[in-house]
Parts: sequence; structure tokens; C-alpha cells
Amino acid sequence: MTAGSITDLAIDCQHLTHRYGKFVAVDDLTLQVQAGETVGLLGPNGAGKTTAVRVLTTLTPVQHGTVSIFGLDAKRDTMDIRYNIGYVPQQLSIESALTGRQNVQWFARLYDVPRRQREARVNEALEAMNLLDVADNLAGTYSGGMVRRLELAQALVNRPSLLILDEPTVGLDPIARDGVWSQVQRMQDEFGMTVLLTTHYMEEADVLCDRVALMHHGKLQTVGSPTELKAAVGPDASLEDVFRHHAGSDLADDTPRPGLREIRSSRRTARRVS
Ligand SMILES: Nc1ncnc2c1ncn2[C@@H]1O[C@H](COP(=O)(O)OP(=O)(O)OP(=O)(O)O)[C@@H](O)[C@H]1O
Ligand SMILES: [Mg+2]
Repeated sequence: MTAGSITDLAIDCQHLTHRYGKFVAVDDLTLQVQAGETVGLLGPNGAGKTTAVRVLTTLTPVQHGTVSIFGLDAKRDTMDIRYNIGYVPQQLSIESALTGRQNVQWFARLYDVPRRQREARVNEALEAMNLLDVADNLAGTYSGGMVRRLELAQALVNRPSLLILDEPTVGLDPIARDGVWSQVQRMQDEFGMTVLLTTHYMEEADVLCDRVALMHHGKLQTVGSPTELKAAVGPDASLEDVFRHHAGSDLADDTPRPGLREIRSSRRTARRVS
């Protein structure tokens, strides 16, 4: 590892603001993640999670504010940061015309895994994600859960110090979701990785995350351990109650989400009619 051991702070994001034209997608975000922590970034659709995550990965340049990853500056040390992180994007990113193994090999080359270690590392990553048996099948034949695990294998092949996962379990059945998380936790225990993840599954965040950061309209609303955040909302509150407490009124009224209310009222009408 290069500068990974310089600081205990895996992520130090200070006053990050990101605009698309005039629209402010991330608004003065300050967030620190300690090395070894698992932190969940939550928030409604459009909250700015993916935008923030992409800046942290250096794939999107820092516009305003500062981002440092293991003490490396995201404006200056882009390549060094990339060598230290694994990233599973929200959009599926595998090449379906290649086999599972070829997809992971491709990442190993991208990340400059030394040629002599490459085969062993590719096998290690495929095995960690339970994909060795199907490694030589075309990725286009994989199920959704297998594709997500293949993406994790790609992200893990350079043994990252920081793993960034943008909705890694969306669309997976509960068993496949558990499978993905148990593999991530195993890798975390083994290599002491820091994990930053976004998810819309509150129970997943509650169980997996040491701390949760809740974003809404680009702004950080609250951050703390699931226990702290739940206690602040009320006795017996769930993380979903915390989510609704900070974003709830908008979820019901937001004009960009007219479908849900219509569906609900048409369902009620349908019940009355039948
Ligand atoms: N390339 C872009 N150009 C213009 N606007 C964008 C772009 N990418 C995102 N946005 C807008 O920025 C806001 C934040 O988007 P972002 O994808 O970061 O949200 P998110 O929290 O990841 O949402 P989701 O939960 O749906 O994935 C949204 O209003 C979105 O429409
Ligand atoms: Mg997103």
C-alpha cells in the first residue's frame, strides 16, 4: 500500500459543493470516515449520494471544498487515490461479452496488479465472491446477484483500503443480499477495509453500518450511529423513522414523485369498486 498508513482518516471531506449548471446537487457536505469504519450514506432519490460518492472516488472532479482520502488530495493525487479504492458504481459496469474471469482480469490490469500476482489475485477475488465455479462462463449469462458479486470481485482485486459501494444490493433477493454482505464483511475482517456504502434498505444500513449519514437535497441532515439516530427520534424508532423524520414530508409531497400517490389512490379506488 502507498500512503494508506499515513492517517487514520480514510475520508476527510470538507465543505464539498457540487453543481450541475446552476443546480446544487451536493451542498456544503462535511463528512469524515475513520479507517476501518463502515459508513452508510442514506437519502431519498436525488439527494446527491451518487454525486458525492463519485467525487470521493475522484471520477468526478472536486469543484468546491476539499476531499482527502487517506491523506491524499483528490484534486492532486487522483491516481494514488484510485489505487487505494475499490468502487462498485450504481450503474452495472461489467462487460457481458467477456467471462467473469476476464472481467476481473481486466480490472487487475487497470489497477496495475503486478503481472506475477495477477492470476492468484483474480482467483482470490472470484473465490471471495463465490464465483469460481462459474468464472469461465460469459458474464452475460449471470443472474443479477451474480453480476453484483462479479462487480465486487472487480472492486476487490486490488485489495483496496477503501471500498465504495453505490447501492450494491439493489434488485437482489434477500438471500443474494445477505450473500453480498457476508462476503464484504469477511473481506473487511480479513483486510481491515473501510467501507462507504449507499443503500435504500434501512434494515441493511442498521445492521451493517457503524455510522449512518443522511442526505437530503444535497445537504447532510444528520450523522451518527444507528442507535444514536434512532434514540434521537424517539423510543422504539426504526432507522426508517429516522429517514422519514428528516426527509419524510418531502417524500409525500414532492412533485417529481407523483406516481406513488396516484398509484395508492387508484388502488384504494380499485378496492372500493371491487
Ligand atoms: N450529470 C448530471 N447532470 C445534471 N444533473 C444531474 C447529473 N447527475 C445527477 N444530477 C442531479 O443531481 C441530483 C442528485 O443526483 P444523485 O444521482 O447524486 O442522487 P442520489 O442521491 O444518488 O439519488 P438515487 O438514490 O436516485 O441514486 C439529482 O437531482 C439529479 O437529477
Ligand atoms: Mg444514486
